[in-house]
Amino acid sequence: MQVCVISGDGIGPEVLGAAVNVLRAVVPDVELIEAEAGWATFQRLGVALPDTTLTAARAADAVLFGAVASPSHNVPGYRSPIVALRRELDLYANIRPVVGLQIDPTISNRPAATCNLVVVRENTEGLYSGRERLEDGGDTAIAERVITRRASTRIVRAAFDLARSRAVANHAQPKVTIVHKANVLRVSDGLFRTVALDVAAGYPDITTEEMLVDVAAMRLAQHPESFDVVVTTNLFGDILSDVACIHGGGLGLASSANLGEGRALFEPVHGAAPDIVGKGIANPLAAIECVAMLLEWRHLGSAAARVRAAAARVLADGPRTPDLGGASTTADVARAVIERL
Ligand code: NAI
Ligand code: MG
Repeated sequence: MQVCVISGDGIGPEVLGAAVNVLRAVVPDVELIEAEAGWATFQRLGVALPDTTLTAARAADAVLFGAVASPSHNVPGYRSPIVALRRELDLYANIRPVVGLQIDPTISNRPAATCNLVVVRENTEGLYSGRERLEDGGDTAIAERVITRRASTRIVRAAFDLARSRAVANHAQPKVTIVHKANVLRVSDGLFRTVALDVAAGYPDITTEEMLVDVAAMRLAQHPESFDVVVTTNLFGDILSDVACIHGGGLGLASSANLGEGRALFEPVHGAAPDIVGKGIANPLAAIECVAMLLEWRHLGSAAARVRAAAARVLADGPRTPDLGGASTTADVARAVIERL
């Protein structure tokens, strides 16, 4: 198995270093191809996603991605390499699971939620279309929100197929919640909603509901246990998955898969975390769960289960990083996971 490793900026190299050690521990003959992308790459080479990285990502069996630090001001020539990678590799489905954290509630400062949900986010268009411009001498900024029948159909199908397979694993009635804002975005989300309901009609065994995005945000915060699979457009999915991840222990434990036809990239949901970079205290468990997701996607289910069991033991017994109330380091946690393996 050949895995392309793109560590990126900030805590990306810290958490992926830990994740790669875990991957090596379970698949000793894995071939790792390091490739670069991100803000530091842009500053050195003038390009955030070099062609060599794209080629390496295409050639590998799967990609592990850390995080990149994208500036919040417009830098000519810079585009977020993760957004570009998703588009270039046509990784149209961003799968973001959240499982209620079962550790001592006093540690995570919140009751252990009984939630088990997945946010399925469209990953190639919407407000991330990259079509932005200034008009009116710079006084008007316009972003185009692109919604297509093709992309909407395939993301909603992915959500319903996932709901069906989860129902088998969870022994529960599957449900898909279609999230949109079609009451205001009548044309763009109007199309998304119409397509979604058409697709839903082909899955009569699955309960379908629709919800406006603002209400969905509140219900995800308040009643995460009432969701199974949530499917939505790009920006809404980005935001809602961060809301939902609170119930799973926060960003330090939130992982995601970016899936296309025969291609996959796995990355923690979090970013470069400039406030803790270099301190060695980033939680590596989100990145380590990405390894489990990668193994599962490669049909190495028992290896994935071993990684998950080891990570769950560490989560329950410690050591823990400061985001979970502990005082341990990234390296302590990674070492503990490997010891339990
Ligand atoms: P962030 O996810 O980097 O950090 C948000 C907060 O969560 C910070 O307080 C951080 O310390 C904490 N945190 C994140 N990951 C953690 C971990 N593994 N362990 C413990 N604490 C963790 O989001 P922020 O601060 O909004 O963005 C920082 C930079 O990252 C920006 O340049 C942004 O563009 C970039 N970013 C990149 C993403 C990616 O590469 N996919 C995703 C989100 C943001
Ligand atoms: Mg995000």
